[in-house]
Amino acid sequence: MSGLYQLICLSHLAPDETASCVPQIVRTGRQHNPTLGVGGLLIFDGGRFCHYIEGDAESVSALAEQIRVDSRHVNFRVLYQSHFAGPYLLAERGLEFAMCYDGCLDRFEGVTEAAAMALLHDLLPSLDMEPKREVV
Ligand SMILES: Cc1cc2nc3c(=O)[nH]c(=O)nc-3n(C[C@H](O)[C@H](O)[C@H](O)COP(=O)(O)O)c2cc1C
Repeated sequence: MSGLYQLICLSHLAPDETASCVPQIVRTGRQHNPTLGVGGLLIFDGGRFCHYIEGDAESVSALAEQIRVDSRHVNFRVLYQSHFAGPYLLAERGLEFAMCYDGCLDRFEGVTEAAAMALLHDLLPSLDMEPKREVV
């Protein structure tokens, strides 16, 4: 598989975990993703993760598989995955993080694959992302 690939997934914090594991997840992503050439956005609402990643297809697929088997979350579902021609959605390779306080991730439950990317696009301007970077 070659070319650029993007993927959105949804999962729940594992029942035996607390939100205190989230900073470690973000730190790991910020260390690994630039070396993989992958950009990511992790949105957390206290109990649920929505994760967007983009980059080289092989790197994105390998990382998604690594994330899928991570025991800190359960009910991992890929909402959307596709090759794309660019440009990147995120300005940097790394991992951006945003808390969601208003139930905005509810909208991703049960969404069709076609609607998931449109939903993410709609959500981006309202997110308080860290580090504060511009969406391309
Ligand atoms: C919701 C969630 C999102 C994650 N996102 C990333 C990520 O973007 N990049 C990353 O390297 N690890 C991420 N991780 C952590 C990986 O699952 C894994 O722990 C990490 O890649 C280190 O794997 P290793 O110890 O086998 O090297 C995430 C974990 C979870 C639960």
